[in-house]
Amino acid sequence: MYLTDFLSEHCADNNITSIINNLSNAAIKISNEIKNVDNKNNAQFNVGNTNIDGDLQKPLDIFADEALITCLRDCPVSGYASEEQDGFIDFNNNHEFIVLADPLDGSSNIDVNVTIGTIFSIIPRNNLPLTEAFLQKGIQQKSSGFFVYGPQTTLFLTIGSGTYLFALNENDQKFLLINKISIPEKTSEFAINAAYKRFWDKSTLKYIENCQQGENGIRGKNFGMRWVGSLVADASRILIRGGIFLYPADTRERYREGRLRLTYEANPIAFLVEQANGMATNGSAEILNLNVKKIHQRTALIFGSQEEVIEFRNSLEKS
Ligand code: AHG
Ligand code: MN
Ligand code: MN
Repeated sequence: MYLTDFLSEHCADNNITSIINNLSNAAIKISNEIKNVDNKNNAQFNVGNTNIDGDLQKPLDIFADEALITCLRDCPVSGYASEEQDGFIDFNNNHEFIVLADPLDGSSNIDVNVTIGTIFSIIPRNNLPLTEAFLQKGIQQKSSGFFVYGPQTTLFLTIGSGTYLFALNENDQKFLLINKISIPEKTSEFAINAAYKRFWDKSTLKYIENCQQGENGIRGKNFGMRWVGSLVADASRILIRGGIFLYPADTRERYREGRLRLTYEANPIAFLVEQANGMATNGSAEILNLNVKKIHQRTALIFGSQEEVIEFRNSLEKS
């Protein structure tokens, strides 16, 4: 079944259907641009600008952002916020929905031909001024998803009743439904950037040490570690075969609230994970319930297999 047919069957809101169809066209454009080796956007140099978070912008970050803006202009969308924009874009209409996006996630992996992606979140405006509409909690999302530009181009999508995986059929350039996603409740794989161990908080340190002790330790089983360094790639693996992802708050000046962005990274991923039977937390509260004070707010993010996320939360008390 094609994505377009899936949406006409399962999505009651024509506006959301139109937004997702348009986003998927933008993603196909981005995916083809990534594969085009004879292309200045894939040049192995940075444009030299930094975005609002102080990260270097690469040509593909900007290409992806522009592709999303162009496609959203034709959608029932009144505003757009992204990692690559300081504030938000006001489309100057009264349409019901707003979109937040990380146009290109994992940009440090562009030059090395490792999986990258596009994350999006669709929220009703709820008659709010745009300045307030963008600060609604994740629980308000009506749909979220991310495109993965890897060996295959895929889409993880939720419209609020389950999480579904689609893959781009290269022959006709259309997304085909692969299956419904359910994250296995148990896992013995964790994903964390272990280089930052010295900056971790106590509960992260305790949890990872317990995993590393393996079958002779308190957990009584051996763990493996996987870390791609693109949130979309790690999330894709965890949604399909289980696991736990941790990017905790740490003691580095810039990352005291965590590194990942709440509105266009953590919230959309948390919605997909919860709809797939998993859990997503900042350590003490559910991601989808966190208050949003600014568009580029950072958060700690721990998500994945239920049993493991609960174990993470309990690890301090048990030690
Ligand atoms: P982005 O490229 O959009 O800035 O996101 C990168 C994020 C995320 O994809 C990944 O999980 C994390 O940064 C990796 O951070 P470290 O380099 O600190 O490990
Ligand atoms: Mn990102
Ligand atoms: Mn990005």
